[in-house]
Amino acid sequence: MKFIDSQDITGKRLLIRVDYNVPLKNGEIQDDNRIKASLPTLRLALEKGASLVICSHLGKPKGQIKPELSLRPVAERLEQLLETRVEFIDDCVGQKALEASGALKPGQVVMLENLRFHKGEEKNDPAFSRELAAMGEAYVNDAFGVAHRAHASVVGVTEYFDFCMGGLLLEKEWKYLSRIVDPQRPFVLISGGAKVSSKLGVLNNLLDKVDAMVIGGAMANTFILAMGHSTGRSLVEEDLVEEARDIMHKARDRKVGFYLPVDFIVGQGPDSQDGVEVVPFQDIPDDKMALDIGPATCTMFAEVLHKSGTIVWNGPMGAFENRVFAQGSYNIADLVGGLEAETIVGGGDTDALIHKLGIQDKFSFISTGGGSFMEFLEGKVLPGFKALEKSDG
Ligand code: 3PG
Repeated sequence: MKFIDSQDITGKRLLIRVDYNVPLKNGEIQDDNRIKASLPTLRLALEKGASLVICSHLGKPKGQIKPELSLRPVAERLEQLLETRVEFIDDCVGQKALEASGALKPGQVVMLENLRFHKGEEKNDPAFSRELAAMGEAYVNDAFGVAHRAHASVVGVTEYFDFCMGGLLLEKEWKYLSRIVDPQRPFVLISGGAKVSSKLGVLNNLLDKVDAMVIGGAMANTFILAMGHSTGRSLVEEDLVEEARDIMHKARDRKVGFYLPVDFIVGQGPDSQDGVEVVPFQDIPDDKMALDIGPATCTMFAEVLHKSGTIVWNGPMGAFENRVFAQGSYNIADLVGGLEAETIVGGGDTDALIHKLGIQDKFSFISTGGGSFMEFLEGKVLPGFKALEKSDG
């Protein structure tokens, strides 16, 4: 795969796919991390004398024009961050977009409207891909967040360029995620979050690769139930009890350490402030829910994590949005952030947790991907990477 830092792009008009799928509230950007993450690529391209046609999706308008999902506020924010004029075009294809991109001089930037206002984007429609490709002379994919989507701007478009490459963000994701293929051992997965169902693919794939799995969050409850213990009113997926048992058996057979919480912080519900207590895993009261891992669990997890060479972490340890149930997640975040090991984190909630603590610089790498990060861990080939590799011959 080629990346932008080793390519001659002087004077070239680049169509750059970024992932600016940022949270918006009444037209206000709530978190601009994804915009910031794209700046190194954009700055490098401008320094090298290229002109830029930037494109992205935002939300799920499903082929309809939804004014509330316009990328205009994102273009305005980008202009401030990049400190360069960004002309916003209110369509991503068509005469106006074509003329604006065709008129670009080196160092100039346009940003196109939401790709998903056209049905052709998600359908990977060849005619739409061709129209989009006409905006640039070379293609740069810097959108790891959509690397798992076989959409026109990610996959189809590469058929119409002689010159395709990854951006610096994609390169960084590629480099760090590739380390998981040949990790420094012991290799430990920390898996948390609400549901086992959304983690099955990752657990099953990584069972063959890791030395240990550390399980927290509400997903741990289903395993506790599978061991035959009562989980009170905790969130569980009863239909996955068999599957959970199977994963534990496979871990035992493959000599993979499988660590479940030994105590929980329980309460009436995720918003509770009172009636919160620490209980051993086998004593969750009938009228309460397990909402965080307890102190003994943190100590046990710390012992496993201290010995590790590589850690991949996805999913918080409890309902951390409520301070009362945040301590387990905070402890694990502080601990992992302080280790010498290679520490790779991904997924929206875990990312939010770490940014909330302001310790993002303490990790080797925080992926910008949500679904794409998970699919990579599931062992799937990401269409975005595949298209770039293919275009490289
Ligand atoms: C994300 O936010 O995970 C990416 O931008 C992908 O968005 P999607 O799930 O709408 O394809």
